[in-house]
Amino acid sequence: MTEILRPHRLRLGVNIDHVATIRNARGGDHPDPVRAAEIVATVGGDGITAHLREDRRHIRDDDLARIQSATDLPLNLEMAATEEMLEIALRHKPHAACIVPEKREERTTEGGLDAAGLHNQLAPVVGRLLDAGIRVSLFIEASPRQLEAAMHLNAPVVEFHTGEYAHADLENDAEKRAVELKRIADMAALAAKNGIEPHAGHGLTYENVQPIAAIPQLAELNIGHYLVGEAIFTGLENAVRRMRELMDEAR
Ligand code: PXP
Repeated sequence: MTEILRPHRLRLGVNIDHVATIRNARGGDHPDPVRAAEIVATVGGDGITAHLREDRRHIRDDDLARIQSATDLPLNLEMAATEEMLEIALRHKPHAACIVPEKREERTTEGGLDAAGLHNQLAPVVGRLLDAGIRVSLFIEASPRQLEAAMHLNAPVVEFHTGEYAHADLENDAEKRAVELKRIADMAALAAKNGIEPHAGHGLTYENVQPIAAIPQLAELNIGHYLVGEAIFTGLENAVRRMRELMDEAR
């Protein structure tokens, strides 16, 4: 029998930060991101992603342990490369840690990590996470310079920032979108060729996810804000299921 070769299934990591944003708006405990994590687990999400920010504007320290004990899904902790976050990561031992740049005043993670420029600061953090058995990824722009820096840092995974692609309007900025898509596809191929597992995320929606999901080397997408927004209208179950369907269709 001939085996049909298919690209591996693309994993969906659901970022539940903004469930916590809504909770924190009133200072109580509803809606609970743990309940969101449980729902993601029942509808075929492959992982939970959460960003513990320095200012704790969404996910808080006690959420991490509660998420970890509520589901068997792997937790991907997004974190700045600081001593404080490193200590928290080593204590909680999430399945994965994704190192992101963080500016206190930004609304969201605006760009990729300068893995090339920050080599000396990142090297000990990456090393200690890897020594603790935590899978490290670096959230970078899809560029040869950043990819090369990730290789020098021995990062097993990179996550490409899809913001430029996602924010290029399909009708008015189709050319920019195509250029950005090609950049991500080329870098995903280069990463895989060099033994690094490529992921992608930021700004992905039902409308723009498929060309990204079709990039065969990508192993995981991390999607948050849009899914939580859609959940308001259709429920989190339906939003995750729909995203999953679109990703599967694109492969
Ligand atoms: N991946 C990383 C590393 C992120 O920091 C974020 C949130 O900024 C996401 C994925 C998800 O982005 P979004 O909420 O726009 O889907």
